Amino acid sequence: MLNKGISLKDQVAVVTGGGAGIGRAICMALGAHGAKVLVADMALQNAEETASMICAAGGQATAVQVDVTNAADAQAMIDKAVRLFGRVDLLYNNAGICTVSEIEKMPEDWWDKIFAVNCKGVFLCSKAAIPQMKKQGGGRIINTASQAGKGAIPKQVHYCATKAAVIGYTRALAMELKDTGIRVNCFCPGSVMSDMTLREAQAVYELDGIEPEQSLKAWQADIPLGRWVTPEDVADIAVFLASDYAAYMTGQAVNISGGQTMN
Ligand SMILES: NC(=O)c1ccc[n+]([C@@H]2O[C@H](COP(=O)([O-])OP(=O)(O)OC[C@H]3O[C@@H](n4cnc5c(N)ncnc54)[C@H](O)[C@@H]3O)[C@@H](O)[C@H]2O)c1
Repeated sequence: MLNKGISLKDQVAVVTGGGAGIGRAICMALGAHGAKVLVADMALQNAEETASMICAAGGQATAVQVDVTNAADAQAMIDKAVRLFGRVDLLYNNAGICTVSEIEKMPEDWWDKIFAVNCKGVFLCSKAAIPQMKKQGGGRIINTASQAGKGAIPKQVHYCATKAAVIGYTRALAMELKDTGIRVNCFCPGSVMSDMTLREAQAVYELDGIEPEQSLKAWQADIPLGRWVTPEDVADIAVFLASDYAAYMTGQAVNISGGQTMN
């Protein structure tokens, strides 16, 4: 990942879901722009791999295992960042999950699970980080929402509901923290080629018999700019929102969708 001219030197970032996909790309980009990165993921080995990749590229990073649905884990993650790096300037609430089922067949615990990871996780990690950011006189909280939070995807009512909730949460928290120096924003990626998307295509195959390649082709055909959003496209906006170029932005839900979402 190239440094694109923004400096995040001496900034400390904590990124959940940093072991794969979009989270890994965000970690790499933050490292390339000079931030010290705590890569947090439930999959510790993957988080360690991301941290090693940052260090191999000349950056500074370490890994921590976290289940974002667990308050003690969230607190331990923030404590580790402070212990190792002395502060927390940036919190990326990026960990998320997605499953596919028509509503009548959706098990009740899928609803609870997706809200626990995609929403409660965002709440718990922010709750743990905010006292530290207030002590420092400011910070940035950046949440990974989705165009699913502004649009409508059949067989993903639970996922769409969580991402709409993240957008609402972002706006309300931005208002609540307006006098603290903490800016709160989220971004809404469109169709990103990641493990999550491949799992979605496989789930559609298991439900409806549509070959994964066919689903992927159809999803790509819906993107006005014509290609998949890459994790690096998302990481560029993640760096921008962290930077002073976004100093007057708070409570925003920024689309990164190749034009697929325009509201
Ligand atoms: N892939 C897409 O098209 C797309 C589009 C819009 C938004 N998003 C969102 O972007 C974020 C990242 O998605 P991705 O495509 O990189 O997915 P991914 O599955 O490739 O990566 C998600 C990461 O989160 C981690 N994770 C899952 N549950 C966790 C938990 N309880 N605690 C800690 N870590 C946990 C996983 O181990 C994994 O490393 C998610 O919030 C997702 O909803 C994805």
